[in-house]
Amino acid sequence: MQLRTLLAALEQPPLAFHDASGRFENLEIAALAYDSRQVTPGGLFIAVPGTHTDGRCFLADAAQRGAVAALGPQPETSDLPLPYIEVGDVRIALANLACAFYGHPAHQLCTIGVTGTDGKTTTCNLISTLLDVAGKQSGLMTTTNFKMCGQQWENTTRQSTLEALEIQQLLRRMVDTGVTHAVIEATSHGLELQRVRGCAFDIGVVTNITHEHLDFHKTIEQYRRAKARLFEMLDPTRDKGLGIQPIAILNRDDVSYNVVRPYCNVPILEYGFDQEAAVRAVDVQLDAYGTRFHAILPGAEIEIETRLVGRFNVSNCLAAIATAHGLGVKASDIARGLAGVTGVTGRMERIDEGQPFTVIVDYAHTPDSLEKVLNILRPLTTGKLLVVFGSAGERDVQKRPIMGQIAAQKSDFFVITDEDPREEDREHILGEIASGAESIGKSEGRDFLCIADRTQAIATAFAHAQARDTVLLAGKGHEQSIIIGREKIPWDDRRVAREQLRLLSTLLSS
Ligand SMILES: Nc1ncnc2c1ncn2[C@@H]1O[C@H](COP(=O)(O)OP(=O)(O)OP(=O)(O)O)[C@@H](O)[C@H]1O
Ligand SMILES: [Mg+2]
Repeated sequence: MQLRTLLAALEQPPLAFHDASGRFENLEIAALAYDSRQVTPGGLFIAVPGTHTDGRCFLADAAQRGAVAALGPQPETSDLPLPYIEVGDVRIALANLACAFYGHPAHQLCTIGVTGTDGKTTTCNLISTLLDVAGKQSGLMTTTNFKMCGQQWENTTRQSTLEALEIQQLLRRMVDTGVTHAVIEATSHGLELQRVRGCAFDIGVVTNITHEHLDFHKTIEQYRRAKARLFEMLDPTRDKGLGIQPIAILNRDDVSYNVVRPYCNVPILEYGFDQEAAVRAVDVQLDAYGTRFHAILPGAEIEIETRLVGRFNVSNCLAAIATAHGLGVKASDIARGLAGVTGVTGRMERIDEGQPFTVIVDYAHTPDSLEKVLNILRPLTTGKLLVVFGSAGERDVQKRPIMGQIAAQKSDFFVITDEDPREEDREHILGEIASGAESIGKSEGRDFLCIADRTQAIATAFAHAQARDTVLLAGKGHEQSIIIGREKIPWDDRRVAREQLRLLSTLLSS
């Protein structure tokens, strides 16, 4: 593609061209890359300033790998190794270029964006299932998995919302392979960093908004604002020629409802337990093995039975039901779809090696989700409730003592451990979490333990567990690695739990 054509797609025209030769006009661009290591001959390198490094430091590397031009913010030197296009907002430019390079795939299929603090991945997967049951071809991009045309693979990138370049590339593949509906998890980071710009969302869904990622967004207002962006992106005049009416799917029970509503310029479909909600649940029956409820939606009432556990999953189901309904899925298909859902990997997943206590692996890693999960497990547990958890390094530090407090209030015994310490001091993180528990009178050794090594922490919790107790392993869920220092070490809570349970049973029987 000609560079000239690509540049014509920029929402904001370039500020300057740094090139003495004036060769820009007719350059052919073979590929785009924002990581210099991914540059291939004939490529355009987009220099994005990140939190750790600045793409502008890699211009020479990009040139050496064959980049024919680069684009980025004001260059730091006048001695540039390749022609350089200066832009005002490089992230917006990256999204614009990606959309143009891949031929604006989002305009050729229905796109559904799901945002919120918790429940995004679950809700995305539910929506995708319901669409497939209704005979549509859904594609999926979430924290845990990607899917297109029946093929599914794990998301090993550790990014919930990919960069615009990868999103547009995947959307292109989806369109080319016949996907009709793309369901995209849109985190607040992803929205703020323009990763989903150009996704031309037809449907925006919000799960809930609570405390999370405050180090990145600085204030809760800014965080809410980031979530609202998804809804600002819904355009009532957008017509992809697919016969789809843009709608916003809002949670009537959550604070996000009032936050997001003013940003919606499209019809709103509300879901929740609230009587005012157009899609709502009544007669909810929860137990450790699944959930039943009666769903009321415009023009239909259905009995829902699903293996998903916990009240918050009723909310997630309602969000998916509302979305499916908004997209014309029949009520009977919705009920059938939810009945077939086996659960989402690492989300309230039960690990059974024949031990006399219950072990649950869940991805809860925010104060709100930890509290909710413990609240769910409490009435389902006749013995004691134990939890193993931590808090990630180089991420929201404010939540650490809050999580310590929640574990102290909601469990009977807990072990604080590693959860991706990254380059932070592990013991320091554990101490910050512990301080929250100590602030409400709990003491280490009596009420809780701090064991940085996660395997040891899990083994210790199992050793403390008695018959009828529940041990919750929170925070890692489906994740396949743990990041210590700069190293990504293979990890799976479910595998480690199974190994430790087998070890325990051998020890007890010998
Ligand atoms: N609607 C909800 N409200 C509160 N907590 C929820 C809700 N849905 C799920 N959770 C909890 O949050 C955890 C993560 O769920 P899920 O992966 O669906 O959320 P997510 O929003 O995609 O998370 P992330 O931002 O980490 O990608 C679950 O394991 C569960 O503990
Ligand atoms: Mg997710």
